[in-house]
Amino acid sequence: MISPSSGTLRSSWSRARRALVVATAGLLAAAGLIALPNTADAATTLGASAAERGRYFGTAVAANRLGEAAYASTLNTEFNSVTAENEMKWDATERTRNSFTFGAADQIVNHARSRGMRVRGHTLVWHSQLPSWVGGLNANDLRAAMNNHINQVMGRYRGQIDSWDVVNEAFQDGNSGARRSSPFQDRLGNGYIEEAFRTARAADPNAKLCYNDYNTDGVNAKSNAVYNMVRDFRARGVPIDCVGFQSHFNSASPVPSDFQANLQRFADLGVEVQITELDIAGSGTAQANSYSRVVNACLAVSRCTGITVWGVTDKYSWRASDTPLLFDGNYNKKPAYTAVLNALNASGGGGGAAGCTLTYTETQRWGDRFNGQVTVTAGSAPISGWTATVTVHSPQRVSTTWHGSPTWDSSGTVLTMRPNGNGALSAGGSTSFGFTVMANGNWTAPTLGSCVATA
Ligand code: XIL
Repeated sequence: MISPSSGTLRSSWSRARRALVVATAGLLAAAGLIALPNTADAATTLGASAAERGRYFGTAVAANRLGEAAYASTLNTEFNSVTAENEMKWDATERTRNSFTFGAADQIVNHARSRGMRVRGHTLVWHSQLPSWVGGLNANDLRAAMNNHINQVMGRYRGQIDSWDVVNEAFQDGNSGARRSSPFQDRLGNGYIEEAFRTARAADPNAKLCYNDYNTDGVNAKSNAVYNMVRDFRARGVPIDCVGFQSHFNSASPVPSDFQANLQRFADLGVEVQITELDIAGSGTAQANSYSRVVNACLAVSRCTGITVWGVTDKYSWRASDTPLLFDGNYNKKPAYTAVLNALNASGGGGGAAGCTLTYTETQRWGDRFNGQVTVTAGSAPISGWTATVTVHSPQRVSTTWHGSPTWDSSGTVLTMRPNGNGALSAGGSTSFGFTVMANGNWTAPTLGSCVATA
C-alpha cells in the first residue's frame, strides 16, 4: 500500500518525467520526426478525447475480426465502447427456440471489459435478423418467447452492459408515423414495446434501456412518432432511459440541418441520447465536415452521452463501397478521423475548464469479496482536487478503502471519495483509489457516478 506522501512524490516525479517527454517530443517535432497535436495536452485518441468531454466513443465490432492484429490494435487504441455488430441479435443468440448460443457475443464482451471499454447491447426485439420460428408463433407463445429472449440474453450479461437497444426500428419510414409491421406488432399490438421495456428493466436493472431507430435524426414524421412514444412512456412511468439515433448518412440522406435540435428535444424529455451506428458515405473534406457536424451536435447537447461508429475500417463496413468510416481499408486515419478528433478536442469543454473522468477496474477477486480500483483522470486543465462517487449494488457493502477520504450516504451504498494527498493532477494526469467490496452474493461491478474537479 502506498502512503499519501509516496503518492505525492510519485506524482511530482511523473510531472518531471512528463516534462522531459514533452520537451523531447518538442525536439523531435522541430526536427520533423513526429507530428504533435495542436496543444500540448490535447488527447490523441477518440476514446480519450471523448472521455475528457464526459462521453464515450465506440465502434461496432465483429467477433471474427478480433484476431486480425491491426483491427484489434485500432479498436483497442481508439475506442472505449463497443457494440456487437451482429452477435447479440436474435438469429445469433436464439436460432432455435429456447436454445441459446453466446460464444461470439461473449468474445466481444470479454474483449471489451478486460480492456476497460463499455459495451452497448444490440438488440433484443427487432423485425430483422429474426429466426423464422418466431414468426410462426401465436400471440401467447410469441409474448412468452419475447420475454424469455429478453430475460435470457440480458441475464447473461447482467451488470456488464451500459445501454441496451431493447427495441429496434419499430416505426415505418415515410409520413405515416405508423408502427412497422412485424410479428411483434402484428400479433401483440402496440403494447409490445412497453412490455419489452418493463421486462428489460427487471432483467438488468443497471442497464440503461434505449429505443433505437434510423431516419429519426432530424425532425420528421417518423421521429415525431418516436418522440410521442417516449414522451408517453416518461409520463406513464414506462422504463426508458435513452434513445439511440442510428445516423447512417449518405447523399440521399445527409446529416439533417436540425440534427442538434432534434437530439435536444428528445434530451428535454429526460432521456439520454446516443448516436449509435454512425457512418457517412463519402470521402475527403465533405465526409470530414459531415462527421464534425455530428460530433459538434452531440457535444452541444449535455445529455448526448456518446457516439458509436458502425465499424472500425471501411473494408469491413456493411456498406463498404460507401467508404463511410474513420479508418480506410489499411487502417490509415482518414480526414474524417482528424475532423472527429479535432471536434472532440476543440475548446469549450476539453479546452481549459477543469474536469475529471473516472474509470473502473476490478483488480482482484477472492472468496466472498473483490477489490475495485477507480482511476481519476484530469481533463485538459490541471486540477487541485476532485470528488468522485461510486455506487455499489445492495447487498454489497464496502469493507475498506485506500488512497482517498471516504464518506457514505445513509444507505451505505453510495461512496463519495475525496483525495487524501492525491488531489493535485496535471492536465491529463491521473491517480487511483481503491476499495474492497463484500459481494454478499452480488458480483455486479460498481457503477461510477460523477467526477467533479476543483480548478
Ligand atoms: C447490420 C450489420 O452491420 C450487417 O453486418 C448485417 O448484415 C445487417 O445488419 N440497423 C441496425 C444494425 O440496427 O443492426 C444493422 O447492422 C444496420 C442497420
